[in-house]
This record gives sequence, C-alpha cells and structure tokens, in this order.
Amino acid sequence: MKIAITGANSSVGLNLLKHIASETQIKVIAGVRSENALKSLPESDQIEPRIISYDDSTKLASSLEGADCIVHLAGILIESKHTSYTSANVDATAAVVDAALKTKAKHLVFISVVGAGADSPNAYFRSKGQAEELVKQSGMSASIIRTPILLGVDTAGANSIIAAASQTKTKILGGGNYSMQPLDIDDLNKAILHCCEKQVAGTSLHELAGPEAVSYRKLIEKTAELMGKKVEIGSIPIWTAKLVAAINSRIKGGGFTPAVIDVITTDETVSSNADKALDIELTPLLTTLGKILGDKQST
Ligand SMILES: NC(=O)c1ccc[n+]([C@@H]2O[C@H](COP(=O)([O-])OP(=O)(O)OC[C@H]3O[C@@H](n4cnc5c(N)ncnc54)[C@H](OP(=O)(O)O)[C@@H]3O)[C@@H](O)[C@H]2O)c1
Repeated sequence: MKIAITGANSSVGLNLLKHIASETQIKVIAGVRSENALKSLPESDQIEPRIISYDDSTKLASSLEGADCIVHLAGILIESKHTSYTSANVDATAAVVDAALKTKAKHLVFISVVGAGADSPNAYFRSKGQAEELVKQSGMSASIIRTPILLGVDTAGANSIIAAASQTKTKILGGGNYSMQPLDIDDLNKAILHCCEKQVAGTSLHELAGPEAVSYRKLIEKTAELMGKKVEIGSIPIWTAKLVAAINSRIKGGGFTPAVIDVITTDETVSSNADKALDIELTPLLTTLGKILGDKQST
C-alpha cells in the first residue's frame, strides 16, 4: 500500500511516519510546504518527501498521484499573520479533496476535532466542520476522525501539561475545571492506518477519544505526581484571559484568541467512542503520561 500525507511535518505526521517506517512495509509520499519542513522528516527508504502547495489542485494531484489513500493532516488551531482558519483548515481541505478526486486514490482520511460543526459559533470548530462538509460532499470513500487533545512526545498539548506540572505553583485557565478525554497519538495513528487499509465505502465519521475523562487540573496534578513533584494550581479567570487575548491577538494578527480559549476550556465529551469500530485498543492514560514524560518520570 502507498499513502500520501499532507502536513507530514505536523506532530501527528512525524509520529505516523516513524510508526510506518519502523513497523510496516507501507510506502509514503510525505507532503510538506517548505524546504525547512522537509529537513524535519525522518529518513527512510519507505518515505518519499515532497514539497506540495495547496494553491493549485491539479499540481497538488500530480504530487499525490500514486497513493492508494490520502491522509490529510494539515490544519491549525492557532492562527497567525501568515495563516488563518480559512486558508489552513477550509481552503487546504478543498484543495486536497479536489486533488484526491483527480488521482486514483481510493480513500481519504481527514483529521478533525471533537466539537467540529459547520454552524458552530466558534471559528475553529466552524472551520473544521466546514472542512468535514467538503469531504462528505466529495462523494469519495472517506473516513473523518474527530479527535480530542492529542498526547504524544512533543505534541502541543503534552508540552503545555509538562510545563505546568514542572512548576511548584502555576495558574491555569479557569483553574482547569473542564473535562478532557486525551487520546494517545499512537492510537490515532493506528486508527488512521486502519482506515487506509479497510477503505470502507461512503463517508464514515468517527469520534475517537482516550479511555478516561479527566479534568485538566487533575491531568496536571497526575503528571506532576509521576514526575515526583507537587504543583499548586491557581486560576486565571476565563473572562480576563479572553479580554487580554482579544487585545493581544488583534495587535499580533493571531496567536491566542478568545476562540482558542473557548476551544481549550470546552468540555471534550464523546457520546460514542469509535475505538471498537476502528479496532483500537486504547492506551491507558497513565501509560500515555509515562510515554510523554520519558526520563522526566520519577522512578
Ligand atoms: N494536536 C491536537 O491536539 C489536535 C487535536 C484535534 C485535531 N487535531 C488536528 O490534527 C491535525 C494535525 O495536528 P498537529 O497538532 O499534529 O498539527 P501541527 O503540529 O500544529 O502542524 C500543523 C500542520 O499544518 C500545516 N499548515 C499550517 N498552515 C497551513 C496552511 N495555510 N495550509 C496548509 N497547511 C498548513 C503546517 O505546515 P507548516 O509547517 O508548513 O506551517 C503543519 O504541517 C490537524 O488537522 C489538527 O487540526 C490536532
């Protein structure tokens, strides 16, 4: 099997490439946007690095040609002066869908987020929902996987938790009293490969979350405990954080916006977990925390 990955330099992409190169015979076209990003990709005979652009779907199609399955990972939570939800989450998905239809690929996998909705009042959730609609309307055989916060070595989520847990005193949004169901990045990548292999007809929408719901506060306390530390957690009122974020993001043209704060502090709830449907044995949360801590874990 050959798959093509967009956003191959993303944290999910790098983890997926390592997994593919060490545990499978799968060939990969690893698509990134720049020379710099190319340098971050692991070297392997199975991996064919390629610079791709989302501006022209015909050129994009020829870059992705030869893949049986296209895995679309490119996407953002934090906007900047250079990239917006419209360009990164909606327009890039439109280009990939258009390109996929021009290739001989038999299946498309799109990574979305728990909470996505084309009518959501939140700009991030709305952009991911709009992207899901593009995938659904394409008529292609496709799997949409909605995930909550992902935990893996060097994911943004894991880095924030470790940074907070490493302090003796820390302040977090709303005291961290919102519920999350973190998913191990390895479990997501097993699910992606499962979808590439099975290529189920039609469009399937899966919500895949971790095995345990936990408050963000508890997650930090648990991580500190595994590091042999104790952290005192205080609260930054959410309304204050949003006010500051509104001003700063307007000056900077992106970054931490009120919309991002809403995403981070919204309870992540999944009514029906797709682990069985995707044939995934979910990694226990404690095991995932051990993996992200590596040698920071106390013995
Ligand atoms: N991490 C999580 O907790 C989480 C949770 C739910 C869903 N997801 C989804 O999972 C996917 C991978 O997430 P990640 O955290 O691994 O991503 P990441 O590490 O933040 O990487 C983002 C990727 O998107 C690309 N990108 C940025 N702006 C773009 C644009 N305008 N057009 C095309 N590509 C653009 C980046 O390319 P450059 O390096 O060239 O900028 C990079 O490859 C994303 O779709 C994300 O929304 C992630």
